[in-house]
Amino acid sequence: MVEANTYVVFGATGNLSLTKLMPAFYHLEAVGRLPEGMRIVAIGRREWQQEDWLAEVKKYIEPIARGGINHSTFDAFAERMDYVQMDILQPEAYSKLAETLALPKFSANIAFYLSLGPDMFGKVTHELKAHGLLEEYAGWRRVVLEKPFGYDAESAKALQNKISKALSEEQTYRIDHYLGKGMVQNVMVFRFANALMEPLWSRNTIDHIQITHAEDKSVGTRAGYYDQSGALRDMIQSHLLQLLALVAMEPPASMEAESLRDEKVKLLKSIRPIKKNQVSSSAYRAQYREGIIHDNQVPSYLNEPGVAEDSVTETYAALKLYIDNWRWEGVPFYIQTGKNMKQSKTLVSICFKHPPKQFFRDSQVKKMEPNWIVFGIQPNESIKVEMIAKQPGLEIKTEQISLDAAMKYDENTKIDAYEELLLDVIKGDRSLFLRFDEVKAAWDVVDPVLNAWASQTDYIDTYCSGSWGPEGSQKLFERSDQKWRTYINPHCAE
Ligand code: BG6
Repeated sequence: MVEANTYVVFGATGNLSLTKLMPAFYHLEAVGRLPEGMRIVAIGRREWQQEDWLAEVKKYIEPIARGGINHSTFDAFAERMDYVQMDILQPEAYSKLAETLALPKFSANIAFYLSLGPDMFGKVTHELKAHGLLEEYAGWRRVVLEKPFGYDAESAKALQNKISKALSEEQTYRIDHYLGKGMVQNVMVFRFANALMEPLWSRNTIDHIQITHAEDKSVGTRAGYYDQSGALRDMIQSHLLQLLALVAMEPPASMEAESLRDEKVKLLKSIRPIKKNQVSSSAYRAQYREGIIHDNQVPSYLNEPGVAEDSVTETYAALKLYIDNWRWEGVPFYIQTGKNMKQSKTLVSICFKHPPKQFFRDSQVKKMEPNWIVFGIQPNESIKVEMIAKQPGLEIKTEQISLDAAMKYDENTKIDAYEELLLDVIKGDRSLFLRFDEVKAAWDVVDPVLNAWASQTDYIDTYCSGSWGPEGSQKLFERSDQKWRTYINPHCAE
């Protein structure tokens, strides 16, 4: 049984809180997973009354509530909430917050969720500490930090130095919401719960591995953040390197937080550093121009509100990585991500080597396809294994067949990653949160590319909005028969 607790959400009126955190709390309420006595303190700068806040939260939850909004669930959820107006830059405001949280209606187990930019993490944790809010006399105190953790390895180190003055590592929950996604966890289960897979999972049989995360959305209203960040920092340094770590790491000693994180760090540290003179052959960037997505004309990145007119920020990034260990020596890992692409989807595609001798090559018109295992991470959750078999009939003619496992997919039962992670925080389970050395190792992978791109300020390739990205990224592949795989089913390939 999870103990009563208080969630204090800083930045509650921001986009992440309204689109992800509040809906996640509401859905947990709907399935009875919020512990009795749990309260949510929403901290915002705006001079709102409780009713204004609740109306705003309802506006965001209503269109996305699974199975439609349930008014009695919403009322029960609203009962748990307190809107607190506060200027988080003012030290006095934390004394008032401490007084509020000392009221008997609040449990002494408190999780502070910092849904803020990383430049605020140091200040807020310092003030929480200075006002005694991180002392664990009467109950536990935990702090959840949203990504990005820093802007590069140096700033991440400086940030870690700052927050570690206020917080112990046990109190720190660095979130990467990809680790809360069911199919991301399924990659691990598929690998480590099936003895069949282990002998196949290495350089002996695998030709290359691809990770694609495409979005059919633009930067929207987030240009202020995104134009300073770009796709490599926004998606690859965090979510996609985590995904790669789960695909490629060694089996951990156990599923305990530390064992799991030890293996991920080991893997990230084994990624071969990209040297300065290798950046152009190992990394590719581009920016979307205008185009058509799902029949709608959309503007170029440079015409989005809030984007600098001469911006060379990448909205598409791709990397070729090698992992220097026994298992993966020589196997390329290709990762790509982009905004304003043709469709939204995230895939992990494992391409196997051709058999050493192709006995049946003459038996069919086309060249024999290699075997693939494709994990559909989102929007549809699936695992597909493609193999070659004999076609029915007199002669030996081959065809591609596949074993398809579509995970139960029903909009009304689908769980958002944040629901699991919010519960993990109050359970004190840190296995799906990042340790600092993991974050640092991931920055070390992308830093050389970030540095090189930062000095190339006069040109960036472009791709048409609504396409699968720039053709130029094809040059990352080692061989001409390797191509981006952006589909699960070959007959639905677009
Ligand atoms: C966020 C990035 O961390 O992840 C966004 O800042 C991105 O730019 C999002 O769109 C993708 O998450 P999901 O869960 O929608 O795939």
